[in-house]
Amino acid sequence: MSEFPRLPQIHTELPGPKAKAIIQKDGRFVSTSYTRGYPLVAEEAKGAVVKDPDGNYFLDFAAGIAVVSTGHCHPRVVEAIRDQAGKLLHISGTDFYYPAQVEAAEAVVKHMPGDGKMRVHFGNSGAEAIEGAIKLAKHHTKRKRFIAFYGAFHGRTTGALSLTASKAIQKEQFFPLMDGVTHVPYADCYRCVYGQTYGKCKFQCLSFIEETAFKSVAPPNEIAAIFVESIQGEGGYVVPPPEFIQGLRAMCDKYDVLLVDDEVQAGVGRTGKFLAIEHFGVKGDITCLAKGIASGLPLSACVASGTVMKWPPGSHASTFGGNPLACRAAVETLKLLDEGLMANAAEMGAFLMAGLKEMMAQYPVIGDVRGKGLMIGVELVKSRETKERFPELRDEVEVQAFEQGLLILGCGPNAIRICPPLIIDREQAAAFLEIFDSSLQRALKKLAFKGFPF
Ligand SMILES: Cc1ncc(COP(=O)(O)O)c(C=O)c1O
Repeated sequence: MSEFPRLPQIHTELPGPKAKAIIQKDGRFVSTSYTRGYPLVAEEAKGAVVKDPDGNYFLDFAAGIAVVSTGHCHPRVVEAIRDQAGKLLHISGTDFYYPAQVEAAEAVVKHMPGDGKMRVHFGNSGAEAIEGAIKLAKHHTKRKRFIAFYGAFHGRTTGALSLTASKAIQKEQFFPLMDGVTHVPYADCYRCVYGQTYGKCKFQCLSFIEETAFKSVAPPNEIAAIFVESIQGEGGYVVPPPEFIQGLRAMCDKYDVLLVDDEVQAGVGRTGKFLAIEHFGVKGDITCLAKGIASGLPLSACVASGTVMKWPPGSHASTFGGNPLACRAAVETLKLLDEGLMANAAEMGAFLMAGLKEMMAQYPVIGDVRGKGLMIGVELVKSRETKERFPELRDEVEVQAFEQGLLILGCGPNAIRICPPLIIDREQAAAFLEIFDSSLQRALKKLAFKGFPF
């Protein structure tokens, strides 16, 4: 691997000639369903920097959609994968035993809050962890129905997609899906659907479930589980108030319903704690992990107590789930989190949050900045008063950032998500703030936003 700078370096117009050729070929052979906001072609990557085939370097604050938690190609993760690749690539944990899978399961369980009497079912993707949770909840409770939230993203396989309520395009033409899902509003205090203000409200987001949904369309004795992202990801990096998650926990206890905590995006140290739900002092009955768990190798985990996860042999399995390479990468990833990356996520997150809040004072188009650790959302609006969404600005900011060598992604209708690898340092965080600021300016100028410069 070549020597990498730690900050962006752009030498060609973007995309450069080699990147262009790859994009052209992609256009001929690859599915048309992917959404590319700007034309990045990644050839190599190291730490928080991605190199394209034309020799341009980008600072990565997207981390492959919050996946490369230990940074790109962390030498210890790469070494663990290399070592495993020379020993055993596959045998299938469905039928046989191997050390890597047991070690990964033990490491995951050790990181879970609670009494440690948990078990893990491995899959390859976040959606598979959710499918596992759907089946496990049905199996354990003998009930068939679910509550999920508007804005939620739980994946795109049929079961997971039934719970997802993020963008209509994700569901268009795919009905019928799994029956029995009732969606209710999430606790998005910036855009409370009940028109209330946090601090003065009576948490209608909770009472609606109990008083309206349970009493009219979804009798609680038929509900197997409530699926919730303890911080909503694709929906806009929305942090609910603690009382919401705590209230869901209490409701689940009251009605003997399982709480499924989808930590696919927020979990594995990103928020400064192993699970985002730990910020709220409660835990789920089933927890789904994926994305950051193996630093880029495909692995997911559906985790539950031994009393919930006691389905019989044959009831659920996956040929590739818990693949030895991915499990070794996960064990090393979790060690690195404990050795400082989780603490770094909290520290760098606080630094970024302070910088973004300062920026908010300068830019009335920043409606809200929210997050925990290195999971930060910036919502862009046309006016703070009306909160009218500004998706065109969000899209243009992404493009302008790319042009200056910064990779960021959107989330929700009009938010930017900031989810870098957990290894970023102060210099890279400061560079992000600088480029983000100038991207906002360039985008506002390009869109000829009335009243800019402010
Ligand atoms: C919270 C959450 N759950 C589930 C998923 C689905 O994961 P995957 O794309 O790996 O299937 C995602 C993906 O973004 C997610 O953010």
